[in-house]
Amino acid sequence: MEKEPLLMLPGPVPMPERVRAAMMRQAINHRGKEFSGVYADCVRILKTAFGTENDLFVISGSGTASMEAAVGNFGRGRKIACLVNGKFGERLYKISQRYGSAIEIGSEWGTPLDLGKLEKALSEGAEMITLVHNETSAGIRNPAEKVGRLARKYDALFVMDGITSIAGDLVKSDAWGVDVAVVGSQKCLAAPAGLSALSVSNRAWERMTEPRPYYLDLAAYRKSASAKLMETPYTPAVPLFLALREACLILEEEGLPARIERHHRMAEAVRAAAKTWGLSLFPRIDSDHAYSNTATAIRLPEGVEDAEFRATIKNMGIEIAGGQDHLKGKIFRIGSMGAVGAPEILATLAAVQYALKKHGYNPKGCGVIAAAEVLG
Ligand SMILES: Cc1ncc(COP(=O)(O)O)c(C=O)c1O
Repeated sequence: MEKEPLLMLPGPVPMPERVRAAMMRQAINHRGKEFSGVYADCVRILKTAFGTENDLFVISGSGTASMEAAVGNFGRGRKIACLVNGKFGERLYKISQRYGSAIEIGSEWGTPLDLGKLEKALSEGAEMITLVHNETSAGIRNPAEKVGRLARKYDALFVMDGITSIAGDLVKSDAWGVDVAVVGSQKCLAAPAGLSALSVSNRAWERMTEPRPYYLDLAAYRKSASAKLMETPYTPAVPLFLALREACLILEEEGLPARIERHHRMAEAVRAAAKTWGLSLFPRIDSDHAYSNTATAIRLPEGVEDAEFRATIKNMGIEIAGGQDHLKGKIFRIGSMGAVGAPEILATLAAVQYALKKHGYNPKGCGVIAAAEVLG
């Protein structure tokens, strides 16, 4: 029997049937009333998930496109302090190097950021900060609110990658002083890959830098969005917008607080399983940093070979992620984003528990039951 694999990755994630169906239709004119309504619905609902009343745009391009739009429109020539404790913080640092004068404030992947060093960089003239709120590569949630306070204290712009936190974890962009926040479609929104969205504060608009990018010129996005019929400057990925609108409506129906609570419980269930197996979570957290509520990174036990371990799980129809870059073979990651609930989590944990045993690690206890106790 041909069966779709269950993607328990930190994105892309399974899409509800309604989201898939929304894409399957005849083309529509992106300069017409219907598209304008689709775009407006996405913006309205995403603003709630971002916790913002600022302008918000949907970009035809994955999360990285919006990360680049943020730095490219507001950071050219600027001194940019980049907080790095994982792959995506590093990506924002690399983007910042292309546009401005980037200062890396790095910690080992999955370990706490040094906000003292950030404050020093700000006192020495850094004008922009980049932060990944939920560092998916290491399963750690970084202290966005504290970083926002420092940004305000030193009057710096604050760019926050919320790609895997927005719509799955609590984000309060305006209250935290985030000037530009970014989300990706294929993560907690459970929409198809290929779109991202970003919000822009008035402070950021007042500090646009020149020359601006062409395709990702946010002034052009603003002009098109404020036209009588809301639109995008260039032809958007219309089928993806249709699907994103449906995903946003589902979010609205569930309600943001309930959705966040569901994500928290699923991640807690995965953490309970890891603990019961006797495995350690990868990140080192402190009072400012927390375990991610959307992607759990677990240390692979000594002797278990990553590729074989995950192949066994894949043979059972479930895909989980390995580590990236230097963490390859050292950790595995289970995504708990989007439309998934107890059935998917419990099936995944049962497959992982089996694969651990098969590949040489004897779990100390039954993680599936521990997870069920959290979910039940
Ligand atoms: C935190 C974070 N930032 C950025 C990205 C990059 O997004 P994309 O692959 O959609 O360009 C990802 C993707 O996994 C991510 O998890």
